[in-house]
Amino acid sequence: MTRYCKNDRVLEASVKLLESSTFELNEENDQATAVFMTREMAKNAGFSLADEVMVATAVSELATNILRYASSGSVRVTVIQRGDERTGIEILAEDKGRGIRDLKLAMQDNYSTAESLGLGLPSVERIMDEFEIESDFGQGTRIRARRWL
Ligand SMILES: Nc1ncnc2c1ncn2[C@@H]1O[C@H](COP(=O)(O)OP(=O)(O)OP(=O)(O)O)[C@@H](O)[C@H]1O
Ligand SMILES: [Mg+2]
Repeated sequence: MTRYCKNDRVLEASVKLLESSTFELNEENDQATAVFMTREMAKNAGFSLADEVMVATAVSELATNILRYASSGSVRVTVIQRGDERTGIEILAEDKGRGIRDLKLAMQDNYSTAESLGLGLPSVERIMDEFEIESDFGQGTRIRARRWL
């Protein structure tokens, strides 16, 4: 298993999970649902319109990758809390697809094995405050990311 973390920082474990929704991804419609519901959850958690769109964009990119490279998987979106006040949104994107051989390469701007823009993963890393990607080549990919209010 290989791992890449934004700023070399593993996600902090002491975070409280509040309400959470899991979206199974098997076809394009599922992605639209996940994106729409993420916006609702971010709005209800107190995110500004701009932040709501940012988090939904991250879900959109991760869901697109799952459908494109792994065919199916899931995205779980959770409202999280750190300490007594800091609220955030956590995204967990998982699939059992072919995985990623070289994470450092995959995280670079414009790297794509699909002749696409190669901007999805690096954008998600920029949008989210915390970001971690793990992959077993041949066995799947798991991404966890958080954005704080
Ligand atoms: N869930 C996944 N399973 C397997 N490979 C993946 C997965 N997500 C990303 N990759 C690999 O990482 C590369 C980079 O992903 P990224 O989302 O940054 O770019 P892209 O999907 O190629 O292009 P864009 O997102 O800009 O349309 C992909 O081309 C693909 O090879
Ligand atoms: Mg992509």
